[in-house]
Amino acid sequence: MTKLVVTGGRELSGEVRISAAKNAVLPIIAAALAGRTPSVIEEVPRLVDVLTLADVLRQLGVGAEFAGDNLVIDPQKITSCEAPYEHVRRMRASFLVMGPLLAREGWARIALPGGCAIGSRPIDLHLKGFEALGAEIIHGHGFIEARARNGLHGANIYLDFPSVGATENIIMAAVLADGHTVLENPAQEPEIIDLANFLNNMGAKVRGAGTDTIRIEGVGVLKGVNYTVIPDRVEAGTYMVAVAMAGGEVRLTNVLPEHMKPVTAKLREVGVTVAEDIDNVLVKSDRRLLAVDIKTLPYPGFPTDMQAQFMAMLSVASGVSSVQETVFENRFMHVDELRKFGASILVEGRVAKVFGVNRLAGARVKATDLRAGAAMVLAGMVADGETEVDYVHHIDRGYDRLVEKLCRIGGQIRRTGG
Ligand code: EPZ
Repeated sequence: MTKLVVTGGRELSGEVRISAAKNAVLPIIAAALAGRTPSVIEEVPRLVDVLTLADVLRQLGVGAEFAGDNLVIDPQKITSCEAPYEHVRRMRASFLVMGPLLAREGWARIALPGGCAIGSRPIDLHLKGFEALGAEIIHGHGFIEARARNGLHGANIYLDFPSVGATENIIMAAVLADGHTVLENPAQEPEIIDLANFLNNMGAKVRGAGTDTIRIEGVGVLKGVNYTVIPDRVEAGTYMVAVAMAGGEVRLTNVLPEHMKPVTAKLREVGVTVAEDIDNVLVKSDRRLLAVDIKTLPYPGFPTDMQAQFMAMLSVASGVSSVQETVFENRFMHVDELRKFGASILVEGRVAKVFGVNRLAGARVKATDLRAGAAMVLAGMVADGETEVDYVHHIDRGYDRLVEKLCRIGGQIRRTGG
């Protein structure tokens, strides 16, 4: 079983380049399906989730191959509209192929993505949007089928919750629908804007991405384009927390500071210096961190994907912090793991009270999900002695060359095992 071994106590320094955003690359790979000609997505990180979605596309008869660091998607001949369970179970974001398949082929059958460690992960809002656009939804045993033999038509859709995936799937279905669609209370994440930009480059007409109302005018055909995806604001936030905890000074390049506002603001409250430039940030930490309260919210609120990393940091801050998780119903799996380091955390429902301690002790822990895994590495970087992190496959799903990047800025971390 592969594991990461982390030795604590080293300050960080130097420069690290942030990769393209996983949560923008995935919907954009799916959206490329809607084009009649190939798209080239540039500098795509070889994340396990990216490789899984490329597998799903090949299953549909769509070309999905790396050419250097670029991923070439060739959707000229789709031979299947079914994404089977063995692919979808590996990554629920595979469900994002339903929107473009429905738009382009008028039919799709996708295995139910199911839940995961952080929650049940329903898809009701996705399906509500597809039905509003004229699709018939059939609930099979372990799969969902959507049919729109006469094509999709524009609709007015209100999302009860600003779901990122539902917003993306509905946009990808509506861009080829007949007529005008208004999507209200959509997700406003930067990844939604990037998806809309990609689709508009393909010839779609999506307006208002990043606001509380998105308007889409259906078009007849989309063509493939070359595209560079935005940087990963969660990867960047994770390295910023690493510097905050370990101390030192590190420049992160390929960063859009405007995407980092809630994270940067909280880090400054904690006592970290963050200097912003056009496409990079300089992070400096040279003192005991202060306790702060965080509450995760849909963008532009504090991102749920940074909650575990911040909890690791607050475990060694001076004072009592409150961490409230409002987006997912079970995203405190990392609390028990942090306690193994000696962290003092009290969970009451969706609020965790973190009582900062002076030292953490290296421990044998596991990654319970992607971001919790990153939090374990961060804790190991400040703990006394060695830490072993199991279930590293969670981390490999979403962090591009984590070990290499951390070692380059002074971290002591190595991968062992099979
Ligand atoms: C995306 O997941 C991200 N994944 C997640 O990142 C991120 O945590 C999440 O958005 C929130 O920002 C990708 O983009 C691939 P949601 P998604 O639909 O789309 C409920 C990571 O670590 N909901 O916004 O699945 C749902 O139960 C991952 O990179 C419904 O009730 O998130 C959850 O409580 C983890 N019905 C909340 O909305 C639905 O139909 C947020 O889910 C859909 C969602």
